Amino acid sequence: MPSLDDLTRPPGRPPRLLYGGDWNPEQWPEETWAEDVRLMRRAGVNSVTLGVFSWSRLEPAPGAREFGWLDRLMDLTHENGIGVVLATPTSSPPPWLGRLHPETLPRDEDGRTEWWGSRQHFSHSSEAYRRHAAAITEDLAARYAGHPALTMWHINNEYCTHDWGDEAARTFRRWLKARYGTLDALNTAWGTDFWSQRYADWAEVLPPRRAHYLKNPAHVLDFRRYTSDLLLECYRAERDIVRRHTPHLPVTTNFMPFWSGQDGWAWAAEEDLVSVDVYPDPRDPRGGQDNAMIGDLTRSQAGGRPWMVMEQAAGAVNWRDVNHPKPPGLNRLWALQAVAHGADAVCYFQWRQSRQGAERFHSGMLGHAGERGRVFQETVRIGADLARLGPHVAGSRVTTDIAVLHDWHSWWADGPDGAPSRRVDHAGIVRAWHRALFDARLPVSFAHPHHDLTGHRLVLVPHLHLLDDTAIDNLTAYVQGGGTLVCGFLTGVADQDGRVRPGGMDPRLRALLGIDLLQEWWPLDEDERVDCGTFHGTLWSEELTPAAGAETVAAYRGGELDGLPAVLRNGRAWYVSTLPEPDALRELLAAVAREAGTGAVLDGLPEGVEAVRRGELLFLLHHGRDPLTVPLPGRYRDLLTGALSTGTLTLERYGVAVLEETP
Ligand code: GAL
Repeated sequence: MPSLDDLTRPPGRPPRLLYGGDWNPEQWPEETWAEDVRLMRRAGVNSVTLGVFSWSRLEPAPGAREFGWLDRLMDLTHENGIGVVLATPTSSPPPWLGRLHPETLPRDEDGRTEWWGSRQHFSHSSEAYRRHAAAITEDLAARYAGHPALTMWHINNEYCTHDWGDEAARTFRRWLKARYGTLDALNTAWGTDFWSQRYADWAEVLPPRRAHYLKNPAHVLDFRRYTSDLLLECYRAERDIVRRHTPHLPVTTNFMPFWSGQDGWAWAAEEDLVSVDVYPDPRDPRGGQDNAMIGDLTRSQAGGRPWMVMEQAAGAVNWRDVNHPKPPGLNRLWALQAVAHGADAVCYFQWRQSRQGAERFHSGMLGHAGERGRVFQETVRIGADLARLGPHVAGSRVTTDIAVLHDWHSWWADGPDGAPSRRVDHAGIVRAWHRALFDARLPVSFAHPHHDLTGHRLVLVPHLHLLDDTAIDNLTAYVQGGGTLVCGFLTGVADQDGRVRPGGMDPRLRALLGIDLLQEWWPLDEDERVDCGTFHGTLWSEELTPAAGAETVAAYRGGELDGLPAVLRNGRAWYVSTLPEPDALRELLAAVAREAGTGAVLDGLPEGVEAVRRGELLFLLHHGRDPLTVPLPGRYRDLLTGALSTGTLTLERYGVAVLEETP
């Protein structure tokens, strides 16, 4: 299978990192193109993504083709040594498609149509949409298959649409028939005897549309599975077309960061390389951790291989309530941080900031201030940094002893409706656990609960409400085989249909974790904390009876749960029945990691400095504004500056050092 490696480590040429972004030259007069390319060369850009939103240009009327402008762009980039990631334009159909085929337009939960005039107004289920998308993809692939500028395919853009309409009802039934075979099996899986929901005919089965009160959670869970799968069908159809024309080129589609809509494991398995769009809030003090977490997750989806930042912002975005720019240095820090976490390609949305359209206030690598602007100066600097690092970094791996288990199906099953607490937010809990590891400088990967876990010293389950039997067997075997496991509250409560396990938590899991009886859940209010002796717990607490032999490591103090376990251990299996405050969770996980035989990348670092090992290199990343001196365990050369340091190193505001140990 072709991969990112083929592009970043071309045989006979020095390894390099890809650098560039979405380029939308069709929005500009052609005179601008030469200027764009000149500035790209100045900035060291070696890769651009073309055509993401160009369907109405390429096919101005049904069946018409206008490729001349794209031909000229492909030639221009090639003449300038810039590779092209060519996008299929299918995420924004031209207005004529919706006019001629209104059934291509998706419907929301209330039956309202999503019209053209923005983007992503297509139904994954529409045959007309799929037919037209395939036709333009076919012609695009046929035309450019042999073009020397073409390096990679980018299918669609951030697949994220939903459809509750009639087209979707048809494919939902098709999907359910394939999953369950019979209506009886569906009725059993969904528990439709509750509230008289039993289906007598397939025609009665609909997407979970607006309803009077709480919906059937199993119905909602399957709709989310189905939506992910239907979008994946659309991706596969286009991927297979381009593969037929260019079997030697990698194919990707860009994920949104840590987003619930797609089963990220299933999707990544269908890609030659995994790419993601990353937009932490520059004002968020935890933005750097967010960036790290997306990197860890994407690298893990890629099976540990190098991955691609398909999009990030050089400055402000335009879709938050208040859109802050990136202060000087932050763009560079986060770009190099992605490389530290295993990225071999660092790209942006977008190259030149638009003057028109919905994103005219979204930053670009080349902003409205132009060539003399600060943002462009930083674009140039980052390009130079990446060019320096490429030969040392491209293709190398980040390895970790710790795995955090994550599964989209559990996320989907864990919705707030009808749950013990609306405050339990799946993503928030995973973030909190990742934060503890990030702050303790413990390198971490993510894994699916079915993955082979034996290579990890420590496996963490922050919050997997849904665990199927295979996952439970896997966790049990992992601990029996000598692994250390820490589970957060609400682990393994439900089976694959979202059905609560006997006793409120799977009995095999209870045996593993040393829980005799799970009596009651005691969720906490926003301003509520529980005293756990040496720390405070938030969000959640539990009334549980430990099994004989299990050790209560921390107990609730006072209140209804006085003396009951907040942290319980049963040999190498741990259970945390609350969400400890950040420092406490950090200390707890660091202590368990130590016992499991793993530790921080580097000890003694000042707060705010992150250390990551990639291959033989040590990245130090300073997430703060005040210069800092960092202790070093030896003598190192900084690949970015060439400077040698022994014993200590000074990091400037948002400073980065990429260190190679020298004798
Ligand atoms: C992404 C999208 C880009 C652009 C960007 C703005 O979600 O793929 O096309 O809209 O956001 O931040």
